[in-house]
Amino acid sequence: MLTNPLTKNIGADNTAADIGRYRENGGYRGWRKALQMSPADIIEMVQEAGLRGRGGAGFNTGLKWSFVPQGEDAPAVRYLVCNADEMEPGTFKDRLLMERDPHLLLEGMAIAAFAIGARRAYIFIRGEYHLAAARLENAIEEARREQLIGDSIPDTDFQLHIHVHRSAGNYICGEETALLNALEGQRAIPRTKPPFPQVSGLWGKPTVVNNVETLCNIPHLLDLGVDWYKNLGRADDSGTKVFGVSGRVRNPGAWELPMGTPIREIIEQHAGGMRDGVKLRGLLPGGGSTDFLGPDQLDLPMDYDTIGKAGSRMGTGTITILDDHTCPVGLVLNLSRFFARESCGWCTPCRDGLPWIVTILERIERGDGQPGDLDLLREQAQRMGPGNTFCALAPGAAAPIQSALKLFEQDFVQHLTRGCCPYAQEQQRVAQ
Ligand code: NAI
Repeated sequence: MLTNPLTKNIGADNTAADIGRYRENGGYRGWRKALQMSPADIIEMVQEAGLRGRGGAGFNTGLKWSFVPQGEDAPAVRYLVCNADEMEPGTFKDRLLMERDPHLLLEGMAIAAFAIGARRAYIFIRGEYHLAAARLENAIEEARREQLIGDSIPDTDFQLHIHVHRSAGNYICGEETALLNALEGQRAIPRTKPPFPQVSGLWGKPTVVNNVETLCNIPHLLDLGVDWYKNLGRADDSGTKVFGVSGRVRNPGAWELPMGTPIREIIEQHAGGMRDGVKLRGLLPGGGSTDFLGPDQLDLPMDYDTIGKAGSRMGTGTITILDDHTCPVGLVLNLSRFFARESCGWCTPCRDGLPWIVTILERIERGDGQPGDLDLLREQAQRMGPGNTFCALAPGAAAPIQSALKLFEQDFVQHLTRGCCPYAQEQQRVAQ
């Protein structure tokens, strides 16, 4: 039984699977099967399989596709957009998939576009991902030459054109409606939802925005079926996931594993455990906009609902580890600087709140904190919470701060009482 559908073509060398190798390994079989099915049956199959969006939010993919208006009155023009603007701190899974197996993404996009009736599709890719963009463009050309996409796909009147659009930068462009504005050539700010893009998206037309890894799940699901796909998961969620670990572990990296793989197994077996001399103090389970989990939560399976119930989010599934030699205040300061810089400035709690947070964290970190600073931080983070902003950027930025204030409160207090960063002090002591 195939257990690594996302990475089966990825070898040890840094080459991309070309169309020949991809097809020899069964590539584009899912696309051929899809063309024999009705779009409605494909959508139902994806929904039943329980595939959830791998960009971070975990929304049911088939359900999302089903919101695209169908029938005679529905707009004839629709779009599929692949969100390849991977910028979540600590996240590097989509890059791996695009660089090393670009045809898997193209095949997933072809099936998705056929299911929703989109004849034009865009890959909105992070500007720095030069190699991935070049490999995707090459793969599009190969697929067009072999008539797998383009104007004349044999045995169907369906046509599909796929374009690569390099982002001009900014984390906010990964928010789906800001992304659509950017693609239209407008300022990248989030739109009000509803209407959701599935109803009114790119140039006001029905548009599905799916993450890279989500789309890469589609070809084998079509080829091998719902039962196979569901059985890949070890806990509540179906399929596999590219999990990753960064931080002071022996073997940082990314691995395709069953959904529901326990955090401990990912860190100890795949990332090789902590390096000598350092201990795990906490972790961000899925990028810099998730809440810290503590060392007592390592046995949790990585699936959306379990991590949600535990007080965080699985997010992108790429774990960032905090060790006992790293200052948690410094870590959240670093993240907050990133989010403050990346705010699009559209709403006040984010535009003004994040620089405020950076100012407070900076003075705590350098030892100039004031007695009321921790309460001020809590209050400020609360103001950026869900419901107070247009998009998830500011609530996401608040998550590591709020959870660090709970889990590592004593570290914050020590900065205030000692008038310096205890970690920097310790490093100086060791160096002397
Ligand atoms: P969301 O939960 O608002 O939406 C997720 C998806 O489901 C969207 O495509 C949305 O259109 C759809 N959806 C949600 N509710 C719907 C409804 N009632 N009707 C129709 N469609 C609906 O989350 P959002 O703001 O799109 O994404 C936030 C996530 O993005 C976070 O979990 C974060 O981890 C992740 N993220 C990932 C990044 C990356 O580089 N991969 C970067 C930044 C954030």
